[in-house]
Amino acid sequence: MKRQTLLKIAAVLSVSAGVFPNAVPGPIRLSTLDPQVKSLLARMTLEEKIGQMTQPDQEYIKDLSDVEKYFIGSVLSGGGSDPKEGNSLQAWTDLYDRVQQRTQNTRLKIPLLYGVDAVHGHNNVAGAVVFPHNIGLGAARSAALVEKVERITAAEVRATGIQWAFAPCVTVPRDERWGRTYEGFSENPQLVQELGKAAVRGFQGSDLFSPLSVVACAKHYVGDGGTVWGSGPQGAGLDQGDARMEEAELRRIHLPGYISAVNAGVGSIMPSFSSWNGVKCSASRRLLTEILKQELGFEGFLISDYNAIDQINPDYKKAIEISINAGMDMAMVPNRYRQFFEALKQLVEEGRVPMARIDDAVTRILRVKFAAGLMDPNRSPLADRSLQKTFGSAEHRLVAREAVRQSLVLLKNRNKVLPLKKTAVRLHVAGKSADDLGNQCGGWTIDWQGKSGAITAGGTTLLAALGKAVSRSTQVTYTKDGTGGAGADAGIAVIGEPPYAEFNGDRADLALPKEDVDTVRNLKAAGIPVVVILFSGRPMIIDKVLDQADAFIAAWLPGTEGEGITDVLFGDYRPTGRLSFSWPRSMAQIPINVGDKKYDPLFRYGYGMSY
Ligand code: BGC
Repeated sequence: MKRQTLLKIAAVLSVSAGVFPNAVPGPIRLSTLDPQVKSLLARMTLEEKIGQMTQPDQEYIKDLSDVEKYFIGSVLSGGGSDPKEGNSLQAWTDLYDRVQQRTQNTRLKIPLLYGVDAVHGHNNVAGAVVFPHNIGLGAARSAALVEKVERITAAEVRATGIQWAFAPCVTVPRDERWGRTYEGFSENPQLVQELGKAAVRGFQGSDLFSPLSVVACAKHYVGDGGTVWGSGPQGAGLDQGDARMEEAELRRIHLPGYISAVNAGVGSIMPSFSSWNGVKCSASRRLLTEILKQELGFEGFLISDYNAIDQINPDYKKAIEISINAGMDMAMVPNRYRQFFEALKQLVEEGRVPMARIDDAVTRILRVKFAAGLMDPNRSPLADRSLQKTFGSAEHRLVAREAVRQSLVLLKNRNKVLPLKKTAVRLHVAGKSADDLGNQCGGWTIDWQGKSGAITAGGTTLLAALGKAVSRSTQVTYTKDGTGGAGADAGIAVIGEPPYAEFNGDRADLALPKEDVDTVRNLKAAGIPVVVILFSGRPMIIDKVLDQADAFIAAWLPGTEGEGITDVLFGDYRPTGRLSFSWPRSMAQIPINVGDKKYDPLFRYGYGMSY
């Protein structure tokens, strides 16, 4: 089907059909589209080419006519960049159409790619299904599940017209003090490789041309999870810091995820904010051009991270020169897009950025646009609103629920306190996160940082799920601080981290907050069996509550479907999750990773009990 349509496009553009891919299963090689791409490129002016390389954030576009004036090739909504009409499915779709419509007033009418951080479902949009963050999917250890999750995410993204997700994150977090630990599947490169590949397949489908597929973006290339504590901006934390290691170690630990993503045909890759041995990844020709494009044969395009180019050099024009010459193809320049456009144009005119580099960048971007069907003259680039039928649907929620139950890791089960009985007389629930959808979802949900509370429509908190699961005669009571449990059959404490994202989540101390420790103590003081459920973006230091807990479940950041947890609590499904990160005993042990010479974690990598 796709091949035929591509031939049709070729005819429309009056180019010879050239080389087309053989009918082999798997992703097409993007360069097989070069005959069409080259013919279009030959008709483009320098301004039109630079426009393709420029990506503003919709929220900072001064006037929508700028999309036409600067021939904008891509727009993003970064975290919190919602439609000005508010956050709803309709408003998002209208926003997409409004921006895309402008491209159709330009001479060449090249549609733009609209990008969002759909990192655990279409998570910016109210009412979308929110899946567990990658750390939970890593514990589920199922490539088939990851593929299914991203297939559904792609469908919900397309329901708003958008065709590009800044995901999957194939980072290999090696230090859980990092605020982005939960965005990674595992500390183990092999698991990241396997699940990252499945995620690309899920987003892009067997055919990127399908109206239900989105362009994937493997990030953050490379070594973002391997930075040294204290090397971040202003000497703080880990995020955006420096990965100090030999190339051999970088290749062994941090590169495998990109090798499999490239082999799975990933359309785009985002270079990291972080540095490798003091050189910003976004400025490294070695990383971007020599390793990724020349050695690994990556044929898609590179998109810089949010204002990442600004960090390369205080002289903005110089920074652009360095990054584009290193191999950056498209620049995420949320508010400085006009300046970027003018500066890059001057750089080409002054001979500081070769025209061949511009042509290479635009070729890569256009390949992806052709592959994704954006250039199909028979297809409107505007949203297909018939896809909205399944957005946030019960069917989609069932898959998220399945992902939640597979992601849970049972760390302790003294006296077989689990599974609980649905026919208990009374279950007493406690903890600040028991009835908090925002805490259950974590960062990158509705807002960039996420937020505590009832943040989105649809979805079920764990407390609500408990109420739904038990027998009609069972009483479910709740206090935040864990008091009032006396006489209940069992107590369930739901504790953990409030939402955060990126550098805001860097922590020197991962001890549980006092409030959580007190909650568990109060519950235990009632003399009842206590089950602790931890919502967190990483292993935490749990020595203060583990003794008090009869059962302990690491639930990570499960998302909107709390019923996935009750499925396991009541034994409808057995726990099957296994740790994809080593669980440290103390802060002094961090960083600790499977394969270390000295390795004595509280729970080893791969640990997980069942019934
Ligand atoms: C993050 C990226 C994200 C981008 C766009 C950046 O701050 O590092 O992961 O894709 O913002 O929202």
